[in-house]
Amino acid sequence: MYWWENNFLKVKRNTLLLGGQPAAMLAEKHGTPLFVYSREQIQANFRMLTKILRENTSLDTYICYAMKANSHPRILKTLKAEGARIDTVSPGEVALARNAGFPASKIMFTGTSLSVEDFQKIFCHSGVIINIDAEEQLELMQEARENWFPQKIFRVSLRINPGIGKGFCSKATTAGVAAPDGTPIKFGIEKDRTLAVLAKASEMGFNPVGLHMHLGSGWTGGDYSAVALAVDKMVEAAREVQDHGLRLEFLDFGGGFGPKYSKEQEVFPVQEYIRYINEKITQSKLKLKSLFLEPGKYLVGDAGVLLFRVEYLKKNYGNLFACVNAGTFNSAPRPAVYANAYHQIVHSSRVKSEDIQEITIAGNLCETGDIFGKKILLPVPQRGDILAFLNAGAYCRSMASQYNTRDIPKEIFI
Ligand SMILES: Cc1ncc(COP(=O)(O)O)c(C=O)c1O
Repeated sequence: MYWWENNFLKVKRNTLLLGGQPAAMLAEKHGTPLFVYSREQIQANFRMLTKILRENTSLDTYICYAMKANSHPRILKTLKAEGARIDTVSPGEVALARNAGFPASKIMFTGTSLSVEDFQKIFCHSGVIINIDAEEQLELMQEARENWFPQKIFRVSLRINPGIGKGFCSKATTAGVAAPDGTPIKFGIEKDRTLAVLAKASEMGFNPVGLHMHLGSGWTGGDYSAVALAVDKMVEAAREVQDHGLRLEFLDFGGGFGPKYSKEQEVFPVQEYIRYINEKITQSKLKLKSLFLEPGKYLVGDAGVLLFRVEYLKKNYGNLFACVNAGTFNSAPRPAVYANAYHQIVHSSRVKSEDIQEITIAGNLCETGDIFGKKILLPVPQRGDILAFLNAGAYCRSMASQYNTRDIPKEIFI
């Protein structure tokens, strides 16, 4: 069994099957490039996390799917049917979630650099919980409320920046003072300002109900101790808030843990993490109703692949390229955008072969960085062969564009 096989991806007679059907057959039938998603795998991921939460915490727990990972209506529908809530980052996402049938009260909104007009649009959906990302936002929120909704009370939470961040690369690190490459972190409110900002929000007539943090994306096993330290900071902040008589209904620990992207990657211990959160909340005697998580890639990452076709092999200065009929930036930008974003690539009709070589999988865009896989070992493909780019369920289609005036690939569900 290959390390990446799951409910969706299987290998039979050296052929890659997606939901039981040969990948090459789906490519032939629907054309390439093609995103293929699995409802069954999304359900399995959701149920696994639900089980972990149920078995390791005493609080009510809510999984708010971070729809930025992939907002395909069928994914939203699948997760809604499983009982998910939803995490949104823009007025557009809130509107899309509402159209998909999520009640406003099950929507979490965590925006940044927001305008008064953004708040007006969010406030239209009465019941959405608004995560305050900056003390300075309160003024804009007040303006939007006075202009358009003077009588309404809005539920708010506060996004803490605990001073510790964790992500698989600098661009995916969303807390701390600066990312590893020195980029100042724009998200959240300094932990020591938590009480003051919540008290101010309350005085201004907003209803504070929770605290939130999101440290970054793509945690691996080695990130556990830093993440646990950030949990301590969050619980300390909540204790201080409750000591001063402010009520909190929930703590929201964001997302960050994800699928296994490479054979070598040690997966983040989700069960241990949830147990630790529960233990800390209990020790600190916090009075809470619930615990929220906002996973994106954990739920949908390994439930999608991108299929593309090899157009020709090219040799240049000793480099061997498989030139394919898809581009990274316009269809699956992760390898182009994030340093070290690795995706396994599988030859769909010869998963294993004696004839392997070091090959670079080059896309069809006018960009040097348009590379799906750099010098990977792969059975040497021929013209017309179909390759599968795994873990394409999260942050691929949702980040796609028509760059180079290329179409965004079609998507199917199986
Ligand atoms: C506020 C917030 N919550 C949740 C997520 C989901 O992260 P992930 O897909 O790593 O679980 C993100 C992603 O950037 C985010 O910004």
